[in-house]
Amino acid sequence: VHREREQWGTRAGFLMAAVGSAVGLGNIWRFPYVAYDNGGGAFLLPYLVALLTAGIPLLVLEYTIGHRYHGSPPLAFRRLHRRAGVLGWWQVAICVVIAAYYAVIIAWAARYAGFSVGQDWGDDPEAFLLGDFLQVGDAGWITSYVSGVLWPLVAVWVFVLAVLALGVRRGIERANRFFIPLLVALFLVLVVRALFLDGAAQGLEALFAPDWGAITDGTVWVAAYGQIFFSLSVGFGIMITYASHLHRRSDLTGSALVAGFANSSFEILAGIGVFATLGFMATASGVAVADVAQSGVGLAFIAFPEIISTLTSGAGLFGVLFFVSLVIAGVTSLISIVQVVVSAVQDRTGMARLPAVLTVGGGIALISIVLFPTAQGLHYLDVADHFINQYGIVLAAFVVVLVVAWALRRLPALRAHANLTSTVRLGAWWQVALGLVTPVMLGWMLWDSLRQEFEENYGGYSDGFLLAVGWGVAIGALVVGVLLSLFPWRDRDTFVPAEL
Ligand code: PHE
Ligand code: NA
Repeated sequence: VHREREQWGTRAGFLMAAVGSAVGLGNIWRFPYVAYDNGGGAFLLPYLVALLTAGIPLLVLEYTIGHRYHGSPPLAFRRLHRRAGVLGWWQVAICVVIAAYYAVIIAWAARYAGFSVGQDWGDDPEAFLLGDFLQVGDAGWITSYVSGVLWPLVAVWVFVLAVLALGVRRGIERANRFFIPLLVALFLVLVVRALFLDGAAQGLEALFAPDWGAITDGTVWVAAYGQIFFSLSVGFGIMITYASHLHRRSDLTGSALVAGFANSSFEILAGIGVFATLGFMATASGVAVADVAQSGVGLAFIAFPEIISTLTSGAGLFGVLFFVSLVIAGVTSLISIVQVVVSAVQDRTGMARLPAVLTVGGGIALISIVLFPTAQGLHYLDVADHFINQYGIVLAAFVVVLVVAWALRRLPALRAHANLTSTVRLGAWWQVALGLVTPVMLGWMLWDSLRQEFEENYGGYSDGFLLAVGWGVAIGALVVGVLLSLFPWRDRDTFVPAEL
């Protein structure tokens, strides 16, 4: 069953979708504290090097594989080499895990947009988050369900599945063309407002004051490459999938450059907004910026509520803007992750879009809804996120680069393919970046995080819990990927269409 792939309506539509996928929770809450922790202004140097030597080259690689082989990751890799399909299935399994918990953070943010209006978190946002809202219990088996998280989560899934059911052009492209400009507008208003807060300058000073000593520190470079990989969402097939819907004559390298720089610009903008706001908080409570800066979940759901409550005017609006921005950034990324899985199942089975969205998307939604709106949900999310990032995404990217560049030696052919239709021609540097710089940095990152894993238990969790939820999920994704690849494709379903 070889059928026509749906195509993007316009180049701008594809770019919006690619930017929508890249710009996510990581830009708003991850970049600011990673930069702050790793040398502030001096971090921008390793960050830029990481963008140019690994981020953009990998983005180009994924666009080119998707465009050349015209399929979701399992089909595209199967066409690249008879035995490479397993790489794609592994990526699909990773996407299932990420989608299941990523949706939950969006649901929290949606609920917090509502809480912002009346500052329902009272005067102890931390106690409110962990107690009243999430009702966090001990790490272990599920002890109870939390209905305050359940219904926003159901709403997120209904929305995402509805967009996917409408298809690439009428669903994904239209949603991104609407949401991405809206996100930029909302976020600009938020950042400008933040810059006018008392103390904004101290916040920016804290973020950007360069600590030049940091750039001789290896862990800062690891952090820079880690941020770039996470932020561009390269390494697990999202861009292969989106690029598989491109027209034959598409500007692959130009699109990768635009998407890469748009993502970084948004990230730096978020850093400015977040730190201006933290500077305000520090000034208002007479402490140093370092004392109010928090990482991850704490930044968005504890520090921001505290800040919003401290505002004397426009507090509700400020909160709504912040949390709605998080929701939009997150939803457009979630759409792209689930689409990988839907598209892979369609490619493999020939199933039509609607039944594929209902069964595959519905299945992921079910896992997400059963596991996460629970007293243990926060622990599951925390551990699954850490392990699937390190030993799913980063490891898969490492293996993909080694296979494509070294085992199969496909970089010259892929480079020639990209150069057929692209404006910016790829030079030899692209092969050096992907063949040498990227694997060395990815290998180093893996080594570094493995070392830490055995030095101390992540997050202070017990061995059993980390084994079940952390290693179990990361290794489980690999095992599921291998099992899925064992159902052989028929050759006539995977031939590479001649016109490509
Ligand atoms: N790139 C996204 C961000 O910056 C993160 C993401 C992770 C997106 C996984 C899709 C899938 O937040
Ligand atoms: Na990003």
